[in-house]
Amino acid sequence: MSLEEEDKFYGDAKKYWEGITPTVDGMLGGFAKISPTDINGSHAFLRPFLVVGGGKTETTRALDCGAGIGRITKRLLLPIFKTVDMVELNQKFLDEARSFIGEESSRVDKLFCSGLQDFTPKVGTYDVIWSQWVLGHLTDDHLLKFLKRCQSGLTANGILILKENISGQDREFDELDSSYTRTREELDKVISQSGLNILKCEKQKGFPKGLYDVYMYALQ
Ligand SMILES: C[S@@+](CC[C@H](N)C(=O)[O-])C[C@H]1O[C@@H](n2cnc3c(N)ncnc32)[C@H](O)[C@@H]1O
Repeated sequence: MSLEEEDKFYGDAKKYWEGITPTVDGMLGGFAKISPTDINGSHAFLRPFLVVGGGKTETTRALDCGAGIGRITKRLLLPIFKTVDMVELNQKFLDEARSFIGEESSRVDKLFCSGLQDFTPKVGTYDVIWSQWVLGHLTDDHLLKFLKRCQSGLTANGILILKENISGQDREFDELDSSYTRTREELDKVISQSGLNILKCEKQKGFPKGLYDVYMYALQ
């Protein structure tokens, strides 16, 4: 991708998200109703890795990537982790986050307004880095580099979770929000290039027919 194409790729996505209302429906493209199923699936996937679920990962601090208004921070991460940080491209969503999250937002510490392509998690800081429905907004090169930076941002037993739409045969480009939907092979390849190991990979169950398959990856 040329620099001009890259500017357009990121610029179009920024514009798209600037036009979206700061609600759960806005975050999920009109599919707010799938949020409880999504959160339950995420919880079941994550729990066995945590000390509280018999695993090794502590629950001190998590990072929500492409956090939007904090749907995942509120419903999944704050009930588990002492402190949660959020990183999100669109300031308008971050402005809404504390009131959306409510009382528990006192345990949300840092709100970073940044594209993931420009963001570096602080080294050795996060027990869990959660990245959902956002990595299609990164170029292949930026995705690879971001995965590597996330690995450095994890604590000793920390894990990186990816939860993304997956396309069947070829990658698809969505002109509307300027994002890719990658195939499993492509995602597996970039993970392997990053040096991260796949601890577990599972398909989310229970979403309505007609949506993309959604896969969860636990990486270390
Ligand atoms: C489909 S929404 C998902 C929000 C949240 N992860 C959730 O599942 O509720 C995608 C989010 O990614 C943000 N985003 C888009 N491009 C981004 C980028 N390059 N870096 C960080 N966030 C980005 C959007 O502003 C939006 O909040």
